[in-house]
Order: sequence, then structure tokens, then C-alpha cells
Amino acid sequence: MSRIPAETDAASLPQLGAIDRFKIIAKSTAKRGIDVCFASKVAVLRAIGLVDFPVPPNSRLRRTSSLTLRHYYESGLTTMMPILTAARMFGADLDQPLNVLDFGCGVARQLLQLTRNYPNVAAFACDANPDNIKHVRNAFPKVDVYANAFDPPLRYKDDTFDLVYSVSTFSHFSPDDARLWLRELRRVAKPNGLLCLTVNSTTSIDWVHRRGLHLDYTKDKLLRDGYWYQVDAAAWYKKKAEDAVTTFGSGTVAEPRPTGNMYYSPQHAKEFFEAAGLEFLALAPGVIDRMQDLVVSRKSEANN
Ligand SMILES: C[S@@+](CC[C@H](N)C(=O)[O-])C[C@H]1O[C@@H](n2cnc3c(N)ncnc32)[C@H](O)[C@@H]1O
Repeated sequence: MSRIPAETDAASLPQLGAIDRFKIIAKSTAKRGIDVCFASKVAVLRAIGLVDFPVPPNSRLRRTSSLTLRHYYESGLTTMMPILTAARMFGADLDQPLNVLDFGCGVARQLLQLTRNYPNVAAFACDANPDNIKHVRNAFPKVDVYANAFDPPLRYKDDTFDLVYSVSTFSHFSPDDARLWLRELRRVAKPNGLLCLTVNSTTSIDWVHRRGLHLDYTKDKLLRDGYWYQVDAAAWYKKKAEDAVTTFGSGTVAEPRPTGNMYYSPQHAKEFFEAAGLEFLALAPGVIDRMQDLVVSRKSEANN
């Protein structure tokens, strides 16, 4: 397993020249302008009755999940549905006032569908990015929302949630971070509570190859190696340096060290979850955004 790299500080970031700084400031100013145009378009769509749900700023939408408003809504539904189905299959009655946590909620792609379709649940949401949280807090006043630190612990007490779900966070955490967060999500789940988390897997590698994108790794290697953590630290540090001079939002400042793409073989996923004290219940391949698997696990009382 990889070791967690040292925390970044300003001195470890690459120096940017005047031209680079100018380009970044121009780009972030343009993003701000596009956000204003997008918000005006949404206001018109709302006025004529085509949009009846909270819409995040365009820049946050693109950064967390979707290039278009339509994709944001539809993929919110298609990613939330397998989670809700799994929760029901394994005994969570979401018509009851259960405590449900969306960890790494982004700009509420799944939370929107949860709160619309299951108004009885007590919904909680957190994300390490304060810009995302600003939108979610304003748009969902009934949801308990906060910006958590990049590292555990969360502010919740032990044994709080009947269901914890998280889409596209464990697909980016390094093995060390994934282990820390799995233990933390287990801590805040109630005994017998469910965890529905999405991961990259052999399905994701197939999907990347099918789309003709270059990936210097294969499904067979993953089945052999168990996991693969792909991280381009140099590109991450450059991005971080750019974020430091942007005039728009706080970017990725919440992340103190490089994150990348983490792939699990099904067998490794099972062992990884079990090592965190979770009962591995099911793995549904490719049900999340057509390229991630859904892992369903339980904080069994036997493992307490
Ligand atoms: C790819 S986005 C997915 C967002 C949302 N779940 C969705 O599917 O639309 C990953 C999210 O995880 C958040 N994140 C990354 N590291 C985190 C951490 N340590 N704690 C909480 N959230 C984190 C990011 O800020 C980002 O919003």
C-alpha cells in the first residue's frame, strides 16, 4: 500500500510566471461570467416551468459531476436509484425518518433526488469543498450540511446513521485515505447500518478503453494486482498552484495532498471492506454512471 505523501505548503508548489498568472486570472474571470449567464438561463427556464429544483453554479456543476444541467438531473437519478434499491434490499425503509448521510455530496446531485423522493428521511450532507457546501446549504435548508476537513473525524457522534452513501469519493482516495475514511464512515454508521459506496473497478477500465481513451493499464493487471492507484502528483501540484492565484472560489484548497484515481478488483474491494470491520454484502458492477461499481456493506454487530 502507498504511504500518504507529505502535506503541501506554499513553498512546495511550482512557481508560476507572469503569463501563467495572467491566463489563470482571465480564465477564472471568464468562469465567473459564465456562471452569471448560466444563472440567468436557469431563471428563464424556472419562470417557464421547465426547472423546478435548485441548480448549482455552472462552474461547481462542471467541477463535481456534470457538463450540462440535463446530465446533472438525470445522472443524479440514475446514480441514486441503485443506492436506494440496495438500501431497500438490505432492509432500510426510507419512508421512515432514518438518518442518511451523503458523504462528499458535491453540489447535491444525489441529495436532490433523495430529498425529493424520500421527504421523511433526516438527510445530512458533508463535503470537503466549502464552495459546494455554500450551494447545498442555501438550496437545501432542511438538510444538516457542513464542510468537513479533508481528514477524519467527521463531527457526527458514533452510531448516528442508518445509511451512509458516497458517490465518486472512494474512486479518488489513495489507499491510505480510503482506509481512514472507511473506518470513519463505519464509526458514524449505526450497528447494522448500511454503507453504499462507489468504486472504480475492472468495469471502469473497460469503460475507459471502450471510449478509446488512453490508459496504460489493463483489467487483467488489476485482477492480478488487486488495486491500482493512478496519481499524477506533478499535475496535481500545478493545479494547486493555479488554484492559489484564481480570483474565483476556493477551488481545491481543501485537499492537502494529491488525489488520483483508485481502482479495486472485486476481490480486493471485498477484502478491503472486511479489513475495515464491515460485512461485504454485494457489489453491483457498472451501475454508477455506467463506469463505477456500487459496494454495499454493513456495520454488522458481530464486528463491533
Ligand atoms: C467527483 S465529486 C462527486 C460529488 C457527488 N457525490 C456527485 O456524485 O455528484 C467528489 C466530491 O468529493 C469531495 N471530497 C473529496 N475529498 C473529500 C473528503 N476528504 N471529505 C469529504 N468530501 C471530499 C469533493 O469536494 C467533491 O465534491
